[in-house]
Amino acid sequence: MQLCKFLLPSPRFLQYFRNQPMSKIYAALTGVHCYVPDYVLTNAELEQLVDTTDEWITTRTGIKERHILKGEAKGLSVMGTEAVRGLLEKTNTHPSEVDLVICATVTPDMMFPDTANLVAHALGIHNAFCFDLTAACSGFIYALSTAAMYVESGRYKKVVVIGGDKMSSIIDYTDRATCIIFGDAAGAVLLEPSAEPYGVIDYLHKSDGIGQQYLYQKAGGSRYPATHQTVENREHFVYQNGKPVFKYAVTSMADVVQQVMARNGLRREDLHWLVPHQANLRIIESVAGLMEFPLDKVMINIQRYGNTTAATIPLCLWEWESQLRRGDNLILTAFGGGFTWGAVYLKWAYGAQS
Ligand code: UT7
Repeated sequence: MQLCKFLLPSPRFLQYFRNQPMSKIYAALTGVHCYVPDYVLTNAELEQLVDTTDEWITTRTGIKERHILKGEAKGLSVMGTEAVRGLLEKTNTHPSEVDLVICATVTPDMMFPDTANLVAHALGIHNAFCFDLTAACSGFIYALSTAAMYVESGRYKKVVVIGGDKMSSIIDYTDRATCIIFGDAAGAVLLEPSAEPYGVIDYLHKSDGIGQQYLYQKAGGSRYPATHQTVENREHFVYQNGKPVFKYAVTSMADVVQQVMARNGLRREDLHWLVPHQANLRIIESVAGLMEFPLDKVMINIQRYGNTTAATIPLCLWEWESQLRRGDNLILTAFGGGFTWGAVYLKWAYGAQS
């Protein structure tokens, strides 16, 4: 009895620790890597497939080429695996150390099991739990903030977020309204705990089901399972009514970016980079214009990859990685089917000090 009393902490001791402020754990982004398939689908080749021109595609979208994953039975996991393999190598992370893998995509290898699980298995990531997240073009930023919360909880130390899509698997190459836009790629980032305020600082995400009528893949889900009729009607492909999507995209992204900046006391001059989803060069320019943000501080690579859906933002971070410095303020923003949209305030965690 006396021994138990001796081992129990005294109430004063417990009170002391309750009064100590808990130090916040930040989710720092500590590496990025991407995989882009070799095959390049140019505007010239699209001119042979549908009634379009390089001039129309370039002036209306800014896209010159996109990459396509060719080959039988090759799904998103092929690209996701290569992106994560490179990420683990460059961050000196052993597969056994990874606690969680989240894969943002609308083009998983199969409806189930999740592609995150397939990638983990291919790489020997055996101590992690894995799941997919579907939010169309906003998938990566939704997954990034979800992953950040696991890290901030203190229970997960190494979390991999994949953003990838094999859009060519759901694109109708007889539909000029969509086939000129999309491409294939996958990117992956690593999140790790940091006691200093680097990484995901804030985010604001939104959704509105009004978007379901403008951008969708009608069949293949539980409402319209695959039948001869759905295949004949080409309902397993992406449908997009581009004009309303364009308008919503510009105003919605500008709105959340400005809200995130305001509530974090960020002025335009405090922002080092705007990292927008790459859907259309004119959308990117309009968002930057509404914010009066100089285009040379906006990451733009749509001309070479097209719209790779969940992969566009990691593709930008990967290409600009060598220019990024520790402490740089980045705002990532995306808009996509659903509608889904959002913005993430990310403080870059590595490289030379900003
Ligand atoms: O990432 C997910 C979210 N998606 C987006 O953010 C995409 C948002 N939307 C867009 O980027 C643009 O709306 C598109 C690039 C999809 C289309 O550009 P647009 O300037 O809105 O063109 P439109 O659909 O209004 O079409 C204008 C004209 C039409 O001809 P008429 O009716 O004026 O004679 C189309 O038939 O351009 C025609 N058109 C084409 N012409 C040549 C549509 N696609 C093509 C094409 N080549 N590929």
